[in-house]
Amino acid sequence: MRKKIVAGNWKMNLTLAQGEQLINDVLAAGLHLQEGQEVVFATPFPYLVKAKALIKNNPGFFLASQNSASEKSGAYTGEVSAEMLQSVGVDYVILGHSERREYFQESNAVLAKKIDLALANGLKPLFCCGEPLEVRKAETQNEYVAKQLEESLYHLTAEQLKNVVIAYEPIWAIGTGLTASAAQAQDMHAFIRAQIAAKYGREAALNISILYGGSAKPSNAVELFSCPDVDGGLIGGASLVAADFVAIIKALA
Ligand code: G3P
Repeated sequence: MRKKIVAGNWKMNLTLAQGEQLINDVLAAGLHLQEGQEVVFATPFPYLVKAKALIKNNPGFFLASQNSASEKSGAYTGEVSAEMLQSVGVDYVILGHSERREYFQESNAVLAKKIDLALANGLKPLFCCGEPLEVRKAETQNEYVAKQLEESLYHLTAEQLKNVVIAYEPIWAIGTGLTASAAQAQDMHAFIRAQIAAKYGREAALNISILYGGSAKPSNAVELFSCPDVDGGLIGGASLVAADFVAIIKALA
């Protein structure tokens, strides 16, 4: 049974005190996570150690960084390595988010290197893929996403892939309030799962979690998560408000 995950991507938001309050409010909400359900907090780098301390005695709650370096270690001022992240107890690492692809020119090839280093250091990549609006309008989104999967993931073994979670984030839905319809999400998630099956076999495809991201809210989470190939969400804005994030988590049930 593949994992059902709701991950909150805080992006570059909140002070440490606000982040602590948010985590404590979510932990205090009385959530009863079922077997296989996971909640992930993807905090800014400076808050990871504190966040780990807050969640460590709460089964089902995990920690993610929002990036990791494409080099192992060394003279890369400002970078944070996968080894460093593992050393402070990070569980997942978001890689390939469209904002990093756009603002920091992260190519599929660079992301393949980041994924290798993450896996080599015991981190679980949360690999983001998704098309820009012009590709969706041209109806070539499947080819676009297939290329992202092929160039960043297909060098992995089936065993390595077991530690990867995929997040489909249509760029035109991120932060816009323009959520993909449940049908659009299901179509792409089913396509991604079929691509994985073609490359790695039916079992690998059935076992990989594929999350949806892009203006997921309490008002649409139940419908989105009811889709057979949607295994949860990667949440931006709504993850910054405890009540909204809790409501989205409850939609996993
Ligand atoms: O990584 C999740 C993020 O890109 C989605 O953002 O604000 O549309 O939920 P948002």
